[in-house]
Amino acid sequence: MDFPQKGLSKEEIFQALDDYQQNDGNYKKGKTWSLVYYAGEEITRLTEEVYCKFFHTNALNPFVFQSLKRLETETLAMAADLFHGDEQVVGTLTSGGSESILMAVKTYRDEAREKKPHITQPEMIAPISVHAAFEKAAHYFGVKIIHAPLMDDFRVDVAAVEKLITPNTILLIGSAPQYPQGVVDPIEALSALALKHDLRLHVDACLGGFTIPFIKELGGDIPAFDFALPGVTSISADLHKYGFAAKGVSALLYRNAGIRQYQYFAYGDWPGGLFISPSATGTRPGGAIASAWAALKYIGREGYLEITKSVLETTKKITDGVKSIPELSILGNPPAGIFAFDSKTLNVHALADVLEHKGWIIDQQVNPSCLHFMVTPAHAGIADDFVQDLKESVEELKANPGNYAGGSAALYGMSVTIPDRGLVNSLIKGAYSRFMTEGGTFSFEDLGNILD
Ligand SMILES: Cc1ncc(COP(=O)(O)O)c(C=O)c1O
Repeated sequence: MDFPQKGLSKEEIFQALDDYQQNDGNYKKGKTWSLVYYAGEEITRLTEEVYCKFFHTNALNPFVFQSLKRLETETLAMAADLFHGDEQVVGTLTSGGSESILMAVKTYRDEAREKKPHITQPEMIAPISVHAAFEKAAHYFGVKIIHAPLMDDFRVDVAAVEKLITPNTILLIGSAPQYPQGVVDPIEALSALALKHDLRLHVDACLGGFTIPFIKELGGDIPAFDFALPGVTSISADLHKYGFAAKGVSALLYRNAGIRQYQYFAYGDWPGGLFISPSATGTRPGGAIASAWAALKYIGREGYLEITKSVLETTKKITDGVKSIPELSILGNPPAGIFAFDSKTLNVHALADVLEHKGWIIDQQVNPSCLHFMVTPAHAGIADDFVQDLKESVEELKANPGNYAGGSAALYGMSVTIPDRGLVNSLIKGAYSRFMTEGGTFSFEDLGNILD
């Protein structure tokens, strides 16, 4: 596309954008099971309006935008209160879960450089189920990630974690809940381990930060996961997920300002002035921060309890439907709206393709192969339809397995069987690059040129 010579009219702009959006996932109708956490028009309108009020503001300089400083501090304080933090707990609002995780790993790396200078290759121990952003952080910041195995219920095996601790270990990680199966790691045991071995413990509550506390309040049997546990030194909790704020905001909280200090970046010799930036980005959109504050204030504890209750009811409806299908089984005992199912007899990747033909957008996982779902208020109205389509899809696949042998079954089958994992990563990058430049489908076929 050439650079436009003349500007379009507002009508033309919106006409084009409507056209572009034609084939997007319909999250409002509950067709997607990730990416967007839609709590209905009322909350969406409110957060949109608030975002627009702060559209041009920039939290890079809180001295200029004192309102943003106040909104950020108050949002973090509200989150700290929810997570049983005392007045020492502080944090930063970042652009999302990944940035919170990147910053936490960088913080502990820099703290170890100062306090444990004998460590030349710092290590962090993370369950294999931990979010891929930790792999990214390891890659970016040169911290070695040591993978801890899971127990049969998909929670991390804490005894195995202890065996993996070496003199180079600086950080333990647990999730509340983890993404793949939606189960909460034994954070209490990890907290005890962190204290025993003088290690830091980050709890990734990006998904659960604004659901797990309310599930507990509704009587859910979920053990402590937050600052109530003395070994927990930081928590990431995404406001743009089950907090229902605008995209681009996550809370990263530390037990005290002394730890947070290692996250900051300052450069006093810059010809552009005294530079200080709390996190990875420079400019920080004020709209996202304001929308986070507004979501917490507008929805409030009572609203989150109501939303959580409805999400749990919808989840039960769907998981009961899954359990009624003999070929499928739910993995572990997920307590929130996040779950996955696998099958001993059917190829679930093929099943995903059958469901996609019926208009659903299905998230697929490997190790083990399963299909992944995150329930939001948008799914309340479609739970029965989904279960019906799932039952029909299972029957269709059983009757015609050969019709679905290519597609996802082939792609995911290949992705797990190639022994050279570096090659798999190159194939994924090649397929993504081809999709971004040429479109089409995401496949590993004919990638020779790209890989050369
Ligand atoms: C448990 C968990 N942590 C971290 C992230 C990363 O969050 P983001 O996509 O906002 O970077 C996710 C995303 O789904 C997640 O589920």
